[in-house]
Amino acid sequence: MNFLDYREEQKQYILLLPDLLKKVYGRTPKACIFTYGCQQNVSDSERIKGMLTQVGYELTDEAEGADFVLFNTCAVRGHAEDRVYGNIGAMKHYKKRHNGMIIALCGCMAQQEIVIDRMKKSYPYVDIVFGTHVQYRLPEFLYKRLSGSSRIFEIGESEKIVEEIPVKRDGQFKGWLPIMYGCNNFCSYCIVPYVRGRERSRHPDDIIKEAKELIANGCKDITLLGQNVNSYGTGCDFNLNFAGLLKKINDLEGDFRIRFMTSHPKDCTEELLDTMSRCEKVARHLHLPFQSGSDRILNLMNRRYTREKYLSLIKMAKEKMPDISLTSDIIVGFPGETYEDFCETLSLVKEVRFSSLFTFIFSPRNGTPAEKLPDPISREEKGKWFDELLKTQEVIGKELSLDTVGKTYRVLCDDFGRVEGKMAGHTNGTAVIEFDGNEEDIGKFINVKVNAVSNILEGERIGE
Ligand code: SAH
Ligand code: SF4
Ligand code: F3S
Repeated sequence: MNFLDYREEQKQYILLLPDLLKKVYGRTPKACIFTYGCQQNVSDSERIKGMLTQVGYELTDEAEGADFVLFNTCAVRGHAEDRVYGNIGAMKHYKKRHNGMIIALCGCMAQQEIVIDRMKKSYPYVDIVFGTHVQYRLPEFLYKRLSGSSRIFEIGESEKIVEEIPVKRDGQFKGWLPIMYGCNNFCSYCIVPYVRGRERSRHPDDIIKEAKELIANGCKDITLLGQNVNSYGTGCDFNLNFAGLLKKINDLEGDFRIRFMTSHPKDCTEELLDTMSRCEKVARHLHLPFQSGSDRILNLMNRRYTREKYLSLIKMAKEKMPDISLTSDIIVGFPGETYEDFCETLSLVKEVRFSSLFTFIFSPRNGTPAEKLPDPISREEKGKWFDELLKTQEVIGKELSLDTVGKTYRVLCDDFGRVEGKMAGHTNGTAVIEFDGNEEDIGKFINVKVNAVSNILEGERIGE
């Protein structure tokens, strides 16, 4: 595995860009980043913000008047892409009013040739388009474009791991910690392996170093990120799998929680569930996407597990951790799915009783095998199935909420509540409880007893 050091790779641009920015703008330039998609992208944007502040940009949420506007995009469904095209369109007018404005597109959309062609032809005011493999070269791209280079289109070929990129985190108490990049699974509907490249794991020393920094800076809730964290370490010369990594992070000193996503059922092992149950800092939450309850559809999706195998994993998880919260992803209307197949998804949802679900209607993705499959069911019909699934889950979610009444939970207060005088905290699972409190509670663990359920869980504090 090849590792690159950002400080070395971008050395000259990190040195030269601050002066160039002063020359071009004559004041502190402002950068506005829009992030779409999954936590991996949120985490990437934190590194992009780190690079930008390092060279002298000030961050803003306002695109109008900003000197640099960057769209960090997602390609997982058509809808995600359409939103980006619409929002970039709106930038044209801002740029007319502000000559020195630089507009850029990066992330998963920008890794696709078809998107690059569209940018070249129809979006002449977009200055820089760069893919996920070359994100660390942002200072270079900005330097070149601001020095008068023509529009930049770069997707890169290398799939190296780049370390030492500065990070500007969005929050102090919750932290994203990528442990691996890419995906080798090629589920037949999914674009991610094409836009994120082959699976590669960060070295444990780099992960532990970042975890320690997070903890030292007050982080109380660390989420380990990867498209399939269960295959962490595969093919690497260090001898550590995901369960081993979890244990190492659990052993770090401090009062914090560890979460992780995503686990693929085909690689989820008894060893991992055992490790979870033994590590007191690992949250009692397992996000285990099953996508479909029908073996026939799972096979067409190239998921490489069966309904039976999935249910046996859930049974094992519940036996080892009776208080575990389970969540999942589901695709409705995969090509060739019948109502009978869909009913198997519904029955699985009823059997497992997830605390929440992320549900999607199938969206054909350019270049994936599923794009070419016959898809006779209308969008309208799929919409009806989708609503049926949502209704089923709503009932289960409410029942699970009612089960919490009278119980006490240790929550991490991380936000204001919906009404004045209330604060909100996350349990060790997935629930959010509101209670009387104030700003000073943010970032603290507080014991809260649930008294009632309305739209939210209402609780009272019973000490810290
Ligand atoms: N690596 C993760 C998921 C990444 S994408 C995993 O394997 O679970 C997040 C979710 O988006 C997927 O779990 C799937 O439910 C959904 N998804 C991916 N491609 C999709 C498509 N073409 N249409 C609809 N939903 C899709
Ligand atoms: Fe996509 Fe499957 Fe990889 Fe998840 S495991 S990112 S769904 S190909
Ligand atoms: Fe989207 Fe890329 Fe994540 S396609 S879901 S942002 S890995």
